[in-house]
Amino acid sequence: MRIRKNAVITAVGGYVPDTVLSNHDLEEMVDTNSEWIVARTGIKERRIVNDPDIATSDMATYALKRLMEEGNVNPDEIDCVIVSTSTPDYVMVSTGSMVCEKAGLKNAWGIDTNAACSGFLYALTLGASMIESGRCKKVVVIGADKNSAIVNYTDRNTCILFGDGAGAVLLEQTEEPVGLMDSFFRTDGSGKENLIVTAGGSKFPASQSTLDEKLHYVRQDGRVVFKAAIQGMTDTCNEVLKSNDLVSAQIDYLIPHQANLRIIQSVGEYLGLSAEQVKVNIDRYGNTTAATIPLCLWDFKDDFKYGDKMILTAFGAGFSWGATYLKWGTLRQSKKD
Ligand code: ACO
Repeated sequence: MRIRKNAVITAVGGYVPDTVLSNHDLEEMVDTNSEWIVARTGIKERRIVNDPDIATSDMATYALKRLMEEGNVNPDEIDCVIVSTSTPDYVMVSTGSMVCEKAGLKNAWGIDTNAACSGFLYALTLGASMIESGRCKKVVVIGADKNSAIVNYTDRNTCILFGDGAGAVLLEQTEEPVGLMDSFFRTDGSGKENLIVTAGGSKFPASQSTLDEKLHYVRQDGRVVFKAAIQGMTDTCNEVLKSNDLVSAQIDYLIPHQANLRIIQSVGEYLGLSAEQVKVNIDRYGNTTAATIPLCLWDFKDDFKYGDKMILTAFGAGFSWGATYLKWGTLRQSKKD
């Protein structure tokens, strides 16, 4: 009998910058107030990069180094690094390539994927496929975004939401009945009207006029995104539950993309989950785009037990959305343990 070889998460790392941007700081910058931000989003503070020399690849590298240290991972054994980001260091030169260099990975190749807030989930499935096929033995998947580079800090509709950060996981093969089980993803390009960074790519290369019109900043219709996010995340969670003969009562944890506490709570309620089952850290980090889900795994890893059933779900620009079902495995131990 052929034994199914799953891809399982065996190490996790995370990084957020030291600089805290509080709601009270934002009150000094735009016409808003902390009570409104907490009530409408659940965000109390976010971290932002304060050093112009720190780019997305640096945050991703810090997260990866923490993963290697805590998981006692030999950098020479890593085969591939997939970085999901909407804020790459450069338009040309992948952030993955920069991470391999900065983390000292001699035998790895690095690439980027971009699906905004859904990017980490999509990259996780790509990485898992490479492990399941046997093509790679150790794949690192990173979600990292320096949102402060694309946020207009005079626009109260967006600047209250975003933070900077990075999270990384290591995928390895296992014959045990744990790991990534299934995913259900969708995209709809017409969603670009409601959530986009318009300029800086090939459609609208950077120019004086794109700068004057502030088209290099993120722009969104929050209400449209809000509704679509609840619908998309709930629907895709239900799809993976159904196709794996599961009901939500059998799920131990929901790890949702952290865009807005009200979105997270609505999805949890639609799925019939208790507040304890739904992991939340948006109060401390805001929306770190591709980093929210791996940062949640990093923050709450001590809560997870072998065999725990988890649904990871995201919604983001594209529109892009989806859900992944996984069973938690065993994390590698650091040398110190
Ligand atoms: N402070 C105070 N008042 C504000 C602020 C603010 N920061 N922002 C908006 N308002 C005002 C509005 O102008 C509006 O006033 P009006 O009624 O006089 O017009 C009022 O508050 C209500 O505005 P809404 O847009 O209806 O507020 P809502 O409850 O929808 O909250 C928010 C806005 C927080 C943006 C919400 O819609 C949201 O979180 N949407 C989803 C955002 C998201 O997930 N983005 C995607 C992530 S990015 C990615 O995928 C890459």
